[in-house]
Amino acid sequence: MVGFIEQIEPLKQAALAEVRDASDLAALDQARIHYLGSHGKLTTLMKALGALSKEQKPAAGKAINTAKAELEAALAQRRSELELKVALPKEPIDFTLPGRRRALGKLHPLTQVTEEIVRSFRKIGFAVADGPEVEDEYHCFDALNTPADHPARDTQDTFYLQNPESRMLNPESGLGPSTPQPQPLLLRTHTSSVQIRVMEKQQPPVRIIVPGRVYRRDNADATHNPTFQQVEGLYVDRNVTVGDLKGTVEFVFNELMGPETRIRFRPHYFSYTEPSFEIDFSSPLTRKMGKEWLEIAGCGMVHPAVFENVGYDPEVWSGWAFGFGIERIAMIRYGINDIRLFYGNDLRFLKQF
Ligand code: DAH
Repeated sequence: MVGFIEQIEPLKQAALAEVRDASDLAALDQARIHYLGSHGKLTTLMKALGALSKEQKPAAGKAINTAKAELEAALAQRRSELELKVALPKEPIDFTLPGRRRALGKLHPLTQVTEEIVRSFRKIGFAVADGPEVEDEYHCFDALNTPADHPARDTQDTFYLQNPESRMLNPESGLGPSTPQPQPLLLRTHTSSVQIRVMEKQQPPVRIIVPGRVYRRDNADATHNPTFQQVEGLYVDRNVTVGDLKGTVEFVFNELMGPETRIRFRPHYFSYTEPSFEIDFSSPLTRKMGKEWLEIAGCGMVHPAVFENVGYDPEVWSGWAFGFGIERIAMIRYGINDIRLFYGNDLRFLKQF
């Protein structure tokens, strides 16, 4: 029978060869189990140590422990080699290539213009107010002193909702106790409805602007879209004059359309203001479009009937209001000739702003 010590070296060599040849981590683990597992060849040999004589044991034990340590070191080394191999990319990588940039999004041109308008008004003390786009007839028309036979109230011109009772079921409706119910619901045709909602909730002085989306039953063409954006303004205090209105509009349009902008008021009619005006403006931009004056907004002094509808005393309070379309401002500023471009989501258009 071959002596105990003599068996160690060939076993170790075989084990080291198997470790060296292991081409992946699974094979390496097989090799470890093969020799160092509980029934492994080296383990079995170690168990046989006990059968040796007292004289043979120390030398044999030392030799087998040395072999075991050598095998464990080889296993660890091969393991880190194989782990590195797994971690390395399969394809060669050029670390000098520039990184891939994530494209930065941009604000929609209408949002940009709206934010600019808001910024101008904030400078002179106006706060932004908001109201529902699904509105009731009272806030959109009646409270604004609009007669029952006004064309804007026609179903041909305005989107009415089919379920007029839904507002009654909603306790969050915001309708005051004085509001006649039930209320037909509609998509607001202008942001003027928010004047009423704000005045119902707060006492004067009021100084607000209301940017927001409005809806009309128009067929889309170059200058119409069934939905568009407006900015409403409302100022209520004691002794407010048309001069305040004109000064404010002049300030804001100068900021928006350039320092050479001039404005003029033309008499007009709105049910919620008296007197009422249309605002025209003139600037190098309008001249570029071949016109000296372009109509840009409606405005006027708040009608006493409107104040009465919200519980303000018209003998004490006075105010003005205005409203204009944001698309129109953006179109004039950027020389855009078709309103539908704002709603087409064409990146070639959007990327220009
Ligand atoms: N609501 C009007 C429109 O949609 C704009 C307007 C005119 C608003 C006069 C006002 C105003 O506040 O006083 O065309």
